[in-house]
Amino acid sequence: MYMKLALDMAAKAKGQTGINPVVGCVVVNGGRIAGLGAHLKRGEGHAEVHALAMAGENAEGSTVYVTLEPCSHHGRTPPCCERIIEAKASRVVVACLDPNPLVAGRGVARLREEGIAVEVGLLGEESRRMNEAFNKFITKRLPYVTMKTAMTLDGKIAARTGDSRYVSGPESRALVHTLRHQNMAIMIGVQTAIADDPELTTRLSVPALHPIRIVVDSRLRLSAKARLVKDRTSRVIVLTVEGADTGRRAELEAHGVEVLNCGSGDRVDLRMAMHKLGELEIASILLEGGGVLNGSMLEVGLIDKIILFVAPKLIGGASSPEAFTFGGFEKMSEAIELSELTFERIGSDLCLTGYPDYKHLPEAD
Ligand SMILES: NC(=O)c1ccc[n+]([C@@H]2O[C@H](COP(=O)([O-])OP(=O)(O)OC[C@H]3O[C@@H](n4cnc5c(N)ncnc54)[C@H](OP(=O)(O)O)[C@@H]3O)[C@@H](O)[C@H]2O)c1
Repeated sequence: MYMKLALDMAAKAKGQTGINPVVGCVVVNGGRIAGLGAHLKRGEGHAEVHALAMAGENAEGSTVYVTLEPCSHHGRTPPCCERIIEAKASRVVVACLDPNPLVAGRGVARLREEGIAVEVGLLGEESRRMNEAFNKFITKRLPYVTMKTAMTLDGKIAARTGDSRYVSGPESRALVHTLRHQNMAIMIGVQTAIADDPELTTRLSVPALHPIRIVVDSRLRLSAKARLVKDRTSRVIVLTVEGADTGRRAELEAHGVEVLNCGSGDRVDLRMAMHKLGELEIASILLEGGGVLNGSMLEVGLIDKIILFVAPKLIGGASSPEAFTFGGFEKMSEAIELSELTFERIGSDLCLTGYPDYKHLPEAD
């Protein structure tokens, strides 16, 4: 119950801690909750610090429930282990170890060294899933990519004219804005930017964060008049190639767009792009298509998680854009399978979530 409460608090902060994990903490003493805390912003207090501050003297002899191993190193804030030791807690229950190479078990070891009882693993899988983006970024310095698309029952993401307003229902579209709030960046292909002219901002009925907008555009076809360029809500990064038109580049830059070279080929080198975005400390990306970009990302194993909103519609058309456009494999046995599949009904749509298994592909990074 207490760990569940800590996880719920952490989940509410998803999207607002930047490259840091989301963490929740509950301090319990004498059968009562003495303190509650969550990490809310990078560079500011960790969950344990907030919860122990609220518990005050009641922290002595308490049990501390925390969703991630307390840190043992000096980062932007002092180590949480020392704070727990100083507060004289007698027991610490940790959902999962911190994969950060600077911590990775050292936090638990430090607490045990001081005679504090430590248990690890309670609701560990829930905690690990909640921080799946952090877990990848902290170990690989690469963004975690969640692809979402709305498609018809026949796998199309637009009609043959390119019209895509709307494939899915209002409830699914509202959920996409929550996904935007929870990711550091949104990425689309230039064809989607041209066809839909989206703003790519987060529109929720509550205040929300607006991720960085990224457009994959090897020939710099993105117009400086595009709504996402004119709208200054958040940064716009265009990924292109070295040979792209210098005049077009200068025009976009004059409108505040950051243009990044990713290779010297005909098309953006997507692996290089991920490394460059990782260097910019972009830890999570919501890939919003279209199908050509989705297909290219999938082909090279760069999509970590797939969320499909399947609408009960059939649109047909051999040339209608599809969810994944790529050369494909020769045999069904080579198909990329999704693991840990979950599904739920959202309005009249079916929402499928899974993790692609790239067993037939060489290591993605
Ligand atoms: N239902 C939905 O959820 C949804 C979501 C998004 C889009 N859509 C619809 O999808 C349609 C557009 O999708 P699309 O599949 O035609 O295009 P897209 O994926 O949006 O854009 C593809 C373009 O990206 C550029 N690109 C640069 N480097 C690339 C690389 N390494 N791999 C792949 N692409 C690269 C290429 O243009 P250059 O060669 O010029 O760089 C390519 O033509 C629109 O009709 C839109 O409305 C629907």
